[in-house]
Amino acid sequence: MTRRILVTSALPYANGSIHLGHLVEYIQTDIWVRFHKLQGRDCRYFCADDTHGTPIMIRARNEGITPETLVQRMHGEHLADFQAFSIAFDNYHSTHSEENRLLAEEVYCKNRDAGHIHTETVHQAYCNKDAMFLPDRFIRGTCPSCGAVDQYGDACESCSATYSPLDLKEAACALCGEKPVQRSSEHLFFQLAHFESFLKEWTRSGTLQTEMVNKLEEWFSSGLKNWDISRDGPYFGFEIPEQPGKYFYVWLDAPVGYMASTLNYCQRTGRSFDAYWRPGSTAEVYHFIGKDILYFHTLFWPAMLHGAGFRTPTAVFAHGFLTVNGQKMSKSRGTFINARNYLNHLDPEYLRYYYACKLTARVDDLDLNLEDFAQRVNADLVGKVVNLAARTAGFLSKQFQGQLCPVYPADGGLHETFVQAGEEIAALYEAREYSKAMRAIMALADLANRYIEDHAPWSLAKQNKTFELQEVCSVAINLFRVLQTYLAPVLPVMADKTRDLLNLPDLTWEGRRLPLCGTTIQPFKHLLVRVDPKQIEALLADSRSPDVTVAPTLPVAAPSSPTITLDTFAQVDLRVARILLAETVPGADKLLKLTLDLGELGQRTVFAGIRLAYTPESLRDRLTVVVANLAPRQMKFGLSEGMALAASPDNSHDKTAIFLLAPDAGATPGMRIQ
Ligand code: 2FM
Ligand code: ZN
Repeated sequence: MTRRILVTSALPYANGSIHLGHLVEYIQTDIWVRFHKLQGRDCRYFCADDTHGTPIMIRARNEGITPETLVQRMHGEHLADFQAFSIAFDNYHSTHSEENRLLAEEVYCKNRDAGHIHTETVHQAYCNKDAMFLPDRFIRGTCPSCGAVDQYGDACESCSATYSPLDLKEAACALCGEKPVQRSSEHLFFQLAHFESFLKEWTRSGTLQTEMVNKLEEWFSSGLKNWDISRDGPYFGFEIPEQPGKYFYVWLDAPVGYMASTLNYCQRTGRSFDAYWRPGSTAEVYHFIGKDILYFHTLFWPAMLHGAGFRTPTAVFAHGFLTVNGQKMSKSRGTFINARNYLNHLDPEYLRYYYACKLTARVDDLDLNLEDFAQRVNADLVGKVVNLAARTAGFLSKQFQGQLCPVYPADGGLHETFVQAGEEIAALYEAREYSKAMRAIMALADLANRYIEDHAPWSLAKQNKTFELQEVCSVAINLFRVLQTYLAPVLPVMADKTRDLLNLPDLTWEGRRLPLCGTTIQPFKHLLVRVDPKQIEALLADSRSPDVTVAPTLPVAAPSSPTITLDTFAQVDLRVARILLAETVPGADKLLKLTLDLGELGQRTVFAGIRLAYTPESLRDRLTVVVANLAPRQMKFGLSEGMALAASPDNSHDKTAIFLLAPDAGATPGMRIQ
């Protein structure tokens, strides 16, 4: 029977861009899914944006838009990045969706009705000015342990101490700087301890990697703690049934997003949701995750599913973190690299291959060493694989109208060796041992290259030994075809180009067995160019900006310019503007042309040097601040009638580190800033 497989990757937060750290997981999962599909299995890959929580609510407020608008914009950005890296989801949904609301309510209500939800009173920091409870990351103060200033509410970055925000000294709200007060509130708690014996059995039944089982044993022995699943409003999320003003904590509905994406897909395509998620399902369900979210996926998630009468996952696969050149990703070193920025400089298939070379089934961290990256791509992909076709396809085109020998020539058993190796390579893919799979494939590539060296088609051509020349080139092209089949889960774009070159409808694992004979090939076109170290330098230069904390920080005094009088300042007419349209400017890769609505002052066109920091779609409809009385400037591309205000680090040449100013929610176009 065909295996039916459902695969997920962790849902990325909607308040940030995709970066190379995220891509370890999406590439790892995508390779696995493509491998199963290539084997002809019924495999589906589902994901979604993780949209709820305080940070998203605050960011939207700062941008002067609704969280829904922000979430929609990020959905588009994330999808575009994933597509560019050939991450082929069968469905990419959102946790802010009706499917997710229904399923989160079902998971909650069934657990509640079964007695797994209790109420407890919690004491939390509250900001009177912002009228909200403050999550730990939104409180800053002095570490009670070492005295370091400006630390988060839950942990000190200086001495690594962890503490309750109530113990932080000189605590201040990170949004407004006010001192928070303590307030109590009734919260709902999921009784994880009810599931101890179920979880012990589930985690020990082959669902987890060995390192994870050990981690879980530690958690079991320190006791399973009940889990706070509610938050007080204002909160961007789903209101809890029969609990007005209380919302599901983002981590309650995030994993439910796996099911919501499935449901959305099934409704679109007429498939059965129940056959994936309800009891009796014979599908295999796999979650790929990072090691930092193990607790959620191996304790809370299976327990909630079980408590609500759903089936539980077949296995959870965790991977480690990404380091770049042996160190944590860093903005100041330029190694905090966004997907978009990478795409501006390098081919995504390079990264897919490099990650494949480093990925194993273990939870180890993965290092992206940029020198090694260039070297491996050039030596393996260009030097060993592409070269096979590059050195032989031309002879076939020029001397034989592209035709391969009508009968597959004697090749000393090479093709058969290649076909046989497919069994082991398939087993390695299935076991997520991609690094070993890549080594096995490159060992075959070495054999093929030795064959070409030994048979020197260029000499045969010179000597006019046409019969032998066609044979040698036909063998090379057939070996190349098997290699490309084995690499197809990793390099889908190159696989497509290979299909075109060989005039094949598709490349399938089974299809590799029969060599191509008597068919013709297309003229050879470039499959992949070498990595130029200059591209890597440019990428790092473009990614460089001062290390900044992601959460809001308190205002700090900065070295300032000479003082001016109030009258001088009042001469500058600063206005709120709405960006009606943002467009790229042909011939100016750093500029965007903005059409602005300034309310009573009408519409203006302004050219802004923000192209490398913002995509045009991301700017549409957002509010910003402009100097409205700047003398119009005639630029090469048109007249600029004002200036949009943006912040950037001092002395920075990094044109991606630009941050447009925006008024708080409530401001409208034309308002004067005074
Ligand atoms: O850690 C994260 O980035 C979360 N957004 C992952 C959620 S995974 C799933 F549970 F939704
Ligand atoms: Zn506040």
